[in-house]
Amino acid sequence: MRKGVLRPGHVQIRVMDMQQALKHYVELVGLIQTHQDSQGRVYLKGWSETDRFSVVLVEAAEPGMDFTGFKVVDEQTLVNLTRDLVAFGCQVEQIPAGELDFCGRRVRFLCPTGHWIELYAQKEYTGRWGVREVNPEAWPRGLRGMRAMSFDHCQLHGSDLQLNRELFCDVLGFHLTEQIVNDEGQSVADWLSLSIKAHDIAFVGDGNVGAFHHAAFLLDTWEALLRAGDLLSMTDTSLDVGPTRHGITHGQSMYFFDPSGNRNEVFAGGDFHYPDQKPVTWLEKDLGKAIFYHSRVLNERFLTVMT
Ligand code: FE2
Repeated sequence: MRKGVLRPGHVQIRVMDMQQALKHYVELVGLIQTHQDSQGRVYLKGWSETDRFSVVLVEAAEPGMDFTGFKVVDEQTLVNLTRDLVAFGCQVEQIPAGELDFCGRRVRFLCPTGHWIELYAQKEYTGRWGVREVNPEAWPRGLRGMRAMSFDHCQLHGSDLQLNRELFCDVLGFHLTEQIVNDEGQSVADWLSLSIKAHDIAFVGDGNVGAFHHAAFLLDTWEALLRAGDLLSMTDTSLDVGPTRHGITHGQSMYFFDPSGNRNEVFAGGDFHYPDQKPVTWLEKDLGKAIFYHSRVLNERFLTVMT
C-alpha cells in the first residue's frame, strides 16, 4: 500500500582519497559533479536525474556507506512517517534543512539490518543535465566514461530480515518483488520496490550487520554495459563480476570497485513488477543461478567483500 515514499534519492559514500574517487565516479562512471560543500563533500548526479544531486562523496578513513535516502511526497508525509517509524520502534534522528546543501530536513532512522536510512521531502529541482526541459534531445553531448544515467539502488546486508521487511513494506509502503528462501521457507534476501522497477533497494540477511555491498547506477542497454566493461579494462579498474545477467530481476549487470574498495554496479533492464503481482521466489540451493544466471557460480569475493 502506498505510504508516500516516492523513490531512491541519494546515497552518501565514504572514500579515502577524494581526487582518486572523483576520477572514478566522474571520469569513469560518468556522473556529473554538481557541487562541493563547505565540509568538502562532493555532490554528483546521473545526467537523467532531475534533482540537484543523488550521490555524495565524503572523505573518511574507512570506505562504506553513511546513509541512503528516499524522497517522500511532501512535508505532511514526512511528519506521518516519522510518527510511524517511532511507533515501529526505530531509533530516529532529525537532520536539519541545509545539512546537505540544496536539501530540506531529513528524518534518519536505523533499520533492523543496521543501516541509516533517510526520508526527505524537498531537494532543489534542477532538471536533467545537458538537455532542454522542452523538446529534450535523446541524450546530452559531452558525457564521460560509462555515461551513467542515474543512481538506481543500494544492496545492504544485515540480519533480522523479517522485521526489516515489515518496516519497509508495512510502514514505508515498499512491495516485495523478489526473494531468496532457504529450506525452511524463510527469506534470506529481499528485493523491494516503490515503483514498477525490479528493485529500489535490496537486503541480504547474511548476518553482516550494517554492511554495504554496492551502490548501483543505471545504464540504458546491454551494449552500454559491454562498453562499460571495456572502460574498466582500459583504466585498469578492479573488476568483480560481469558483464552478465542476473537470474533475480533478469537485469544485466557488472560489478567493480572504486579506488577505496566500495563496490559499484552498473545495471540495465530488469523485469517490471506491479504491486499486485506475487513476489518472484528463488531457492537458496540455486543461489548461483539466481545471482549470476550464466555462470551459476558465486565468487567468494562477491559473498564476503563489503564495506
Ligand atoms: Fe544491485
